Amino acid sequence: MKKGYNVAIDGPAGAGKSTIAKRIAKEMNFIYVDTGAMYRAMALYLIRQGIAPEDTDRIAEVCSGADISIEYRDGEQVVLLSGENVNAFLRTEEVGNMASWSSAVPAVREKLVELQQRLAATADVVMDGRDIGTVVLPDADVKIYLTASSATRARRRYLELKEKGEEPDLQKIEQDIIDRDYRDMHREHSPLRQAEDAVLLDSSDMTIQEVVERIRELCR
Ligand code: DC
Repeated sequence: MKKGYNVAIDGPAGAGKSTIAKRIAKEMNFIYVDTGAMYRAMALYLIRQGIAPEDTDRIAEVCSGADISIEYRDGEQVVLLSGENVNAFLRTEEVGNMASWSSAVPAVREKLVELQQRLAATADVVMDGRDIGTVVLPDADVKIYLTASSATRARRRYLELKEKGEEPDLQKIEQDIIDRDYRDMHREHSPLRQAEDAVLLDSSDMTIQEVVERIRELCR
């Protein structure tokens, strides 16, 4: 069986991973796999089961019951929870907070890593997340660690919310980013870190197109 060409992009929240991965996938005709959306779908399942984010014992017990699968419709990744398209429910604070807790539970990771590895086995993919280069696809053809300063990431998020007509608090956003980074980098299982053979890209002073071109160069 032909192995797919695999591009792994890891990094903290707000570094621009999904925007960049989507663009690369489109230009190279690869499939974009958003692993964060899978952790969010698991989080939604746990919320619907009435489980509290801190209750990691219950999360470990219940997570095996989640029926999560991925489909592609018009080039967009659709996450299905028991067959229901849940994309529209994944981007809330509540789901993000639950995902930040539940993604630290080994049983949750095992289940989703297996699904991710199956997707990448035979298809050309650009996959983004926190542990793609280190755990999910250790043999990826190209590995990128994409980061940006917390101030830059906070500003980007602030402008995004402003555009939606909200009145965001820049300082609070930056503090949330710092807290979430800390949890992602210091959890016991598959913490966020740069793989030894990953190329470090700091997008603080780069445009999206500059980052995309640099990654495409690395793929060549
Ligand atoms: O990238 P995101 O914000 O959609 O990710 C949601 C949560 O899932 C976040 O807390 C980090 C976690 N995550 C992870 O642990 N491993 C991944 N490969 C992707 C996301």
